[in-house]
Amino acid sequence: MASKPFYITTPIYYVNDKPHLGHAYTTIAADVKARFHRLRGEEVRFLTGTDEHGQKLARAAEEAGMAPKQFTDLNCAKFRELWEKLNISYDDFIRTTDDRHKRGVAELWRRVLAAGDIYKGEYEGKYCVSCETYFTDLQLLDGNCPDCGRPAEPVSEDSYFFRLSKYEKPLLDHYERHPGFVMPDSRRNEIIRFVQGGLRDLSVSRTSFKWGISVPDDPSHVIYVWFDALSNYMTAAGFGPGGGGGGFAEATAWPADQHFIGKDILRFHAVYWPAFLLSAGIPLPEQVYSHGWWTIEGQKMSKSLGNAVDPHWLIEEYGVDAIRYFVLREIPFGLDGDFSHSHLISRINSDLANDLGNLLHRTLNMVKRYRKGRLLRAPGGEGQAEEDLCSLVESAAKTYEREMEVTNFQEGLKAAWTVVSAANKYIDSSAPWELAKKKESERLDTVLYHAGASLRVLAALVLPFMPETAEKIYSQLGLPAASLSAPFRELTALRAFPESVETRLGEPIFPRIEEEARAEIEKKVAARISAGDAVDAPAAEPGAEDVPQITFDEFQRLDLRVVKVIAAAPVFKSKNLIKLEVELSGERRTVVAGIAKHYAPDQLVGRRLVLVANLKPATLMGVESQGMILAAVDGDRVRVLGVDGEVEPGARVR
Ligand code: MSP
Repeated sequence: MASKPFYITTPIYYVNDKPHLGHAYTTIAADVKARFHRLRGEEVRFLTGTDEHGQKLARAAEEAGMAPKQFTDLNCAKFRELWEKLNISYDDFIRTTDDRHKRGVAELWRRVLAAGDIYKGEYEGKYCVSCETYFTDLQLLDGNCPDCGRPAEPVSEDSYFFRLSKYEKPLLDHYERHPGFVMPDSRRNEIIRFVQGGLRDLSVSRTSFKWGISVPDDPSHVIYVWFDALSNYMTAAGFGPGGGGGGFAEATAWPADQHFIGKDILRFHAVYWPAFLLSAGIPLPEQVYSHGWWTIEGQKMSKSLGNAVDPHWLIEEYGVDAIRYFVLREIPFGLDGDFSHSHLISRINSDLANDLGNLLHRTLNMVKRYRKGRLLRAPGGEGQAEEDLCSLVESAAKTYEREMEVTNFQEGLKAAWTVVSAANKYIDSSAPWELAKKKESERLDTVLYHAGASLRVLAALVLPFMPETAEKIYSQLGLPAASLSAPFRELTALRAFPESVETRLGEPIFPRIEEEARAEIEKKVAARISAGDAVDAPAAEPGAEDVPQITFDEFQRLDLRVVKVIAAAPVFKSKNLIKLEVELSGERRTVVAGIAKHYAPDQLVGRRLVLVANLKPATLMGVESQGMILAAVDGDRVRVLGVDGEVEPGARVR
């Protein structure tokens, strides 16, 4: 029987608003874990998606004056766009409005009903719409939700109930027999205490609104949004009516190996979800890993503070890889942490610029200066220092693997950085500049070769965290990026470095952020916080009358040009992006456009389109985009802008 892929999931995000740092954090972490398993040659299935039903969504859509589906389409696209920018390598994206999902949820309901675990009654109590959670009066704090602090609303309606109380003992048995089911341990204890405190049956349907999946055979009820949402992990793995063994399509990835979630939604994942599955006779996931929460500059995340850590802005300011690195290096996964720009800048300057970046730059600089760019293996020049370096790398790679396996990202990175500092020390003590002066060429080759070989290992170790950096290191070392898919043992063996390589010294991969730039950023942070909601893009596309007016001069700052598409190709590993080669008055540019779902590359070649030519370049999935193609966005439809008739490429659009 073929082995099952490693199956990892993020929560599915509410699309009542645009994504923020908290969402990015869970998703980056899951991406790192998925990439780590792929690096070890395992087949992986990485799922993310959006949670689109429920009262919270229905209300947000109403406030935006939009139909719920139109509203969720719009905001769902914002999540996909951010994941693209963050290089999130998901294999599947599920939306709870997908038909495949709705069918699977109805099937799960039928199974739980057939098990005798659903009965009809009346719910009388309080409900927090923001958390989509029921509370008793005793659980509330001054009438407010104990989780988010917002007022809870009274609810009194007919409802179906799930016999959660029946699963008290089976759940406790499961936690006992599978100590790794809830991680970290502190969270596991919290959940055990909660279940030991007694479980009440759970209301699993609502009648006061319609935006959701109808209860099978009783359309006056919609299924409780958490019953609906949690099922996504299974419906995306092919669970549904007519499925083979246990309701799943033949080659299913279920059960999930890891659900990554934030601590606020642990109870849903570690109590309700396994109880539904036990009832339906479906195998339970291996592990629910709950991470901590970020505060921002020492304070609880709010709209205006969130604005100071808007993921798009962070990427623009610091680069994707620095952000991915920072959030997993700064705090142990599982604990709370504080996001501060000053800490981020310090880490960039020390770990990335001074340590890793400088190791690459100084090594290749010397290789260029002393060896015309060529790294050569000279076995005659090897001695104890090389032996030591080799065994240090070997043991660091083992520690790294062990820590990553158990989701200790911070420890995994620390293990990788022992190689960075050992390689830097090795260079300092071997002093290649002295060897060059003394013309000890065999020894000089050996030292540079081993420094280069350490960098090759480092590229592999940082790859899950910083995929673009890994490729840049390979490219500067003169190694093909494709060879990063070699077996993990080979990638991390110092001695597997090729006998001879032609290096290509490039720009420093992480430039230092100097005092002046730091002060500039601090000013921008302060402005963003004080601008608060004003700079926060609204959740929905504003109506034309809501957009502020600009002067003609402001408009003139945009350099809009007609361009002709010379070539078009999909961007490697991207579902949304197309890379275009365009011509404008004798000049050629590469532009990346998020239109792969709307156009085949061939349809674009030869077309004359409109380019924002003076937009600051941005790197998307490893490709630098030198401008932006304009397109009209109408809900799910995206159409590029053209010109009426034959116009020379380069013509200005005014
Ligand atoms: N839709 C539900 C999840 C359903 S899963 C079947 C939901 N969505 S959410 O969009 O509100 O939150 C998603 C994730 O973002 C949660 O894991 C939550 O912990 C995380 N974060 C939200 N704010 C956060 C921080 N300030 N810090 C870290 N993560 C946080 O809940």
